[in-house]
Amino acid sequence: MALPSAAQQAAREPARAALAAPKVPLAIGVSWYPEQWPEARWVTDLAMMKQAGFNTVRLAEFAWSRMEPGEGTFDFAWLDRAIAAANAAGMQVVLGTPTAAPPAWMSQSYPEILRVDENGMRAEHGGRRHFSFASARYRTFATRVATEMAKRYGRDARVIGWQIDNEVGPPSFDAEAQARWHTFLEQRYGAIDELNRRWTTQYWSQHYDNFAQVPLRAGGQHNPGLLLDFKHFVTATWVDYVQAQAGAIRAVADPRQWVTTNTMFWNAGFDHFAMHRDLDLASWDNYIPDGRPDWLANAANHDLVRGYKQRNFWLMETQPGRVDWVPVNRALDRGQTRELAWQAIGHGADAVLYWQWRSALNGQEQYHGAMLGADGTPYPIFDEIAQVARDAAAAAPALAGTEPVGKIAMLFSYDSRWAIDLQRHHRDFDPIKQFTAWYRPLRSLSQAVHIVPVDADLKRYPLVVAPSLHVITKPEADRLAVYVRGGGHLVLGPRSGMKDDANALWPQRQPGPLADLLGARVDQYYALDAAAPLTGTLGSGEASIWAETIEPRMKDVEVLERYGPSNGWLDGKPAAVTRRVGKGRITYVGAWPDEVMLRTFAQRLLDEAKVAPVVPDASAALEVMERAGGGKRVLVLVNHGDTPLRPTLPAGAKPVTGDLRDGVLPAHGIAVVALPGAQTAASNR
Ligand code: GLA
Ligand code: GLA
Repeated sequence: MALPSAAQQAAREPARAALAAPKVPLAIGVSWYPEQWPEARWVTDLAMMKQAGFNTVRLAEFAWSRMEPGEGTFDFAWLDRAIAAANAAGMQVVLGTPTAAPPAWMSQSYPEILRVDENGMRAEHGGRRHFSFASARYRTFATRVATEMAKRYGRDARVIGWQIDNEVGPPSFDAEAQARWHTFLEQRYGAIDELNRRWTTQYWSQHYDNFAQVPLRAGGQHNPGLLLDFKHFVTATWVDYVQAQAGAIRAVADPRQWVTTNTMFWNAGFDHFAMHRDLDLASWDNYIPDGRPDWLANAANHDLVRGYKQRNFWLMETQPGRVDWVPVNRALDRGQTRELAWQAIGHGADAVLYWQWRSALNGQEQYHGAMLGADGTPYPIFDEIAQVARDAAAAAPALAGTEPVGKIAMLFSYDSRWAIDLQRHHRDFDPIKQFTAWYRPLRSLSQAVHIVPVDADLKRYPLVVAPSLHVITKPEADRLAVYVRGGGHLVLGPRSGMKDDANALWPQRQPGPLADLLGARVDQYYALDAAAPLTGTLGSGEASIWAETIEPRMKDVEVLERYGPSNGWLDGKPAAVTRRVGKGRITYVGAWPDEVMLRTFAQRLLDEAKVAPVVPDASAALEVMERAGGGKRVLVLVNHGDTPLRPTLPAGAKPVTGDLRDGVLPAHGIAVVALPGAQTAASNR
């Protein structure tokens, strides 16, 4: 299945994108489930939301049995009244389609819509996500309820946008899913012989005579081509599922209403870049399950979500204190809920919505964080969230029309992540950990990283880092070569350029189709159970988990690092090389260096790219986020640490809101600061 390229997408999108600009520059609000409460209570709830400073509510996702109490019988009168009441309290409304929670009559009358797991077990009613993403009948029901909602609210000025479904999730292995899989493979490969060739099915007598013979499997002892294509299939099916509803809504609704779907962090289920190509907005649900935020790791989450559309996004859900779905549901410390809100905004969120307003008296999530208790009065977290809303109102004019500045880019590839996860070769080669190991120093030293897909426009970034671009196609390699020759610096990490998009090994050694550009190749790779020493121009340190020996093949290849004495094979061999090509440079690092080395290396890369942080010498606890646009430059500062800091702000910086007093940012304090001059920001974007 050919998905449109980023360029094709950009060509057809501007109209909707411009219209999808937020009505209020910063939406602050909550998930509210009026269907769970007596109507007489609604005005009190909404008055309290107003008191919290909220301007936005998200409604209706999960309320299918209320909206369509019997097959084909719709009741929206209650929702009309809920929207009217919300509007009267000054709230803009986001409507969710309820398709994550189909009603019991449907499960009973049409059991074929129910999801079947990989072991053949059919889901039951009573949870959520119990439908098959491949069921045509389910698709019909889902698009019909979306259409009915859009007919009613699609031209309603009080409704600003739509969320399709909720955290689209697990695939299904039912008969319809299998049939779709076969059609998908046929569309992808055209002829069965092409599939046989790309999957190398001469191996273990896997040769297929026709598509119908190909099993639908997500894991286990299967061909790597099949397993990676399973991910492509799941992506295509979920994209199609979401687009069916998006299309139903757009057919009726005013284009001013945006369409999104809320996603989960680092979710491996489908390719999120593909999912967002035809959505107006990216939105996600940010949870800190153990209540112990690692700010750099969470920053990477936000930057990835921003990268889905390379635009600002919505934080559709975040926790008021704690979750209820891990072994120890520790609450965030006092002040951290506010820190996390400002982190999101600094990274490009134009909305922060809490999940949820008040916990239902019964139902699976009684222990989850909420703003009100079962008694209907505020929990202690209420005041902290109200402060977020007050600060947001004060900062909104300054932040309106601004986006995060990105001085360098990192490439994230779902194919690469999946292919490595399917065959880690070393238990600890976690592709997300490996990605964030590089992200951490790059982000803290530059204070401005964009995470983008491999087909993004890279021209504006002097430095592009791909920590492990394991799967790469020839067209992608060609585009990266153009970037390098044109003056960019491309840095590749270990395992790069090893596979193609059918998960087959490239017949050239790593980095495969980029080996000629590099003028060097990986001779051999080794999984390490003990660290190997590294020495060179980046200083001395250690490689762990993974080590590749690199063989320079051109005279102008410069060796940056070599291994010290280790297993005999590595001893003295190059571990990192670099080469000038055209106006730019390509660098290959064949190991997983320790933290100190990665930091030294990141600093060198940023110096060479002439990228400097906007706040120099920032403490490790200080997060600095710059947003710019419309002639404005704004810094969002968060002190994630336990001691006060005195950041060195650019000349002319003016506090807009927050805790900065006489240049001091207290422990766990936040500040929004306006900077003079827009020239630098414009050229950075
Ligand atoms: C066994 C099998 C071989 C091969 C090797 C790999 O010995 O017989 O086909 O899979 O393991 O170690
Ligand atoms: C997800 C869901 C919400 C809720 C929260 C609880 O994000 O979208 O409906 O279940 O988790 O953390």
